[in-house]
Amino acid sequence: MSQYDITIIGGDGIGPEVTREAFKVADAACEVFGFQLKKNELPIGSQYFLDHGDPFPDAMFEEARQGDAIFLGAIGDPRCEPGKVEYGIIAKCRFDLDLYVNLRPVKLLQESLCPLKGKGPADIDMLIVRENTEGAYTGMHGFAHKGQPLEVATQTMVYTREGVERAIRYAFHLAETRERQPGKEAQVTLVDKANAVRAHDLWQRTFYEVAKEHPNIKTDHAYIDAACMWMVKNPEWFDVAVTPNLFGDIITDLGAMIQGGMGMAASGNIHPGKVSLFEPIHGSAPKHAGKNVASPIAAAMAVGMMFDYLGEKKAAQAVDKAIADLFADGRLKGASTGTHPTNEVGDMIAAEIRKN
Ligand code: IPM
Ligand code: MG
Repeated sequence: MSQYDITIIGGDGIGPEVTREAFKVADAACEVFGFQLKKNELPIGSQYFLDHGDPFPDAMFEEARQGDAIFLGAIGDPRCEPGKVEYGIIAKCRFDLDLYVNLRPVKLLQESLCPLKGKGPADIDMLIVRENTEGAYTGMHGFAHKGQPLEVATQTMVYTREGVERAIRYAFHLAETRERQPGKEAQVTLVDKANAVRAHDLWQRTFYEVAKEHPNIKTDHAYIDAACMWMVKNPEWFDVAVTPNLFGDIITDLGAMIQGGMGMAASGNIHPGKVSLFEPIHGSAPKHAGKNVASPIAAAMAVGMMFDYLGEKKAAQAVDKAIADLFADGRLKGASTGTHPTNEVGDMIAAEIRKN
């Protein structure tokens, strides 16, 4: 029987409770599809940082690196300086494990979940590939004359040919291999801001060079501002999109909204063939923590993505199908805070999987 070493970081706020539900779902899939998870739960998060002054001790990080996958609930706590725990945990994993793709599917399951008039599941089914190790996130920033009237603050966006190219190649690979809505063409859209951020010229040149190797895949291009507009007006125009780190962060919150909210949006921080990290894209929502009102659907979907990554394709499909079926017959009504008690959603998805 296959066994996978999974590091689990519940994290902050609603993170631990959505993680608990996600692993009810995971355990059900393990039982049904005959594989095991060896779980290693790490106590890290903002409270751990406040208590110990170290967001992610080296020994724990090395354990996580040795495993097959990492699952993260959520991090962020208003008691900590912004960025400290984020860079200490999630950015550390992304950079030190070289998780160069942040894959964020945007898929609408039910018309009723979508805030856009007249758009249904056939219109909203795209994969967003967010470059995950470069851009505005490399931490190259500084302040001069801090606190003075003439204070200067800078932050450098960094792009390497290799970093850009591997994200773009991953997007074309997805376009070659993904399942899509009937009648829809394989396409990769580059989303950048090369008209103002001239460094994005590197993205454009690399994109069209890689595109030449994939003559069967249509290409499209949109500046990030226009892409936001098109995602609302004509989401059906998108199949696979690839974009720099910061734009990918922003546009996938927009993507989450058009598929039913942050409670529906999952992601994989991936380095093909190496330990990779899966997480719901929502934050820690401290004000909702401990009230059993958060949606664990995104976290359960992240477990589905993790299974897919581990090669447990049937289990991955069963997680997605369970959630889709629960929506289809109205047992799940939404993923907004308070729509369903957190624990009941985990139980429902797990029970649905056990019907397999
Ligand atoms: C995300 C989050 C993170 C990011 C934060 C927590 C640093 O918003 O994963 O989208 O900006 O990447
Ligand atoms: Mg974000």
